[in-house]
Amino acid sequence: MPTLLHLDSSPRKGSISRRISGEFAEAWRKADPEAAYVYRDLAASPVPHIDDAQIQVMHRLEAQGVRDLAAAREAAASPEEKASWAVTWPLVEELLAADTILLGVPMHNFSVSSTFKAWFDRVLIPPLIVDPVSGEGPLSGKRVVVASARGGAYGPGTPRHHCDHQEPYLRAALGMVGLASDLTFLHAELTKSAHVPRLAHLKDVAATSYEAALDGARDLGGA
Ligand SMILES: Cc1cc2nc3c(=O)[nH]c(=O)nc-3n(C[C@H](O)[C@H](O)[C@H](O)COP(=O)(O)O)c2cc1C
Repeated sequence: MPTLLHLDSSPRKGSISRRISGEFAEAWRKADPEAAYVYRDLAASPVPHIDDAQIQVMHRLEAQGVRDLAAAREAAASPEEKASWAVTWPLVEELLAADTILLGVPMHNFSVSSTFKAWFDRVLIPPLIVDPVSGEGPLSGKRVVVASARGGAYGPGTPRHHCDHQEPYLRAALGMVGLASDLTFLHAELTKSAHVPRLAHLKDVAATSYEAALDGARDLGGA
């Protein structure tokens, strides 16, 4: 059964990244009401930061070159490792089960929100990394859509283009686990023009960017 995994990570009630991801999810669910839908709000229910116990398990998987997921699931040894792995493994299974992964990610300090990063650090475990020979991994082939909102503008030709550590970072990290071959970014930019007086003259540009992101979400979600 087609499965959508939808994550949001903005702590903001009036969040624009949530609005864009919500639009995609609504269109996707309307297109196939029987399909499975899994929602995780990383701001309301944050994933605990990665800890020493999980890193011990990951080091062992790397040292032994474990790529088999069934073996990785059983890799925790001490009580601390088992407790930490019990937090991580359901998140890994959610990813594995999804055909489409929808990530609501605000730009925070030129990068991603800390709750998103905490989830990412837990879930990107060594056996998910693409095989260097085949270039494939267990997550290869899945579709990923990133619904993003940014206070400023970061497109090519803008003065802050070089400060965008959100999209390039996500492309690199998702690519490491085979999730960059069908990857789309929907950015709403200049959201700060709504409340920062010196950006007020850019409200029209912001509105156009937002509408384009919403249209893109509806189109992609319904496809
Ligand atoms: C902690 C924090 C850091 C931020 N850092 C940036 C930044 O580096 N660049 C930027 O353009 N906007 C920045 N913003 C503004 C957000 O990107 C903007 O409000 C965006 O709409 C957030 O997404 P949301 O509407 O889904 O919450 C920041 C906001 C917060 C709360």
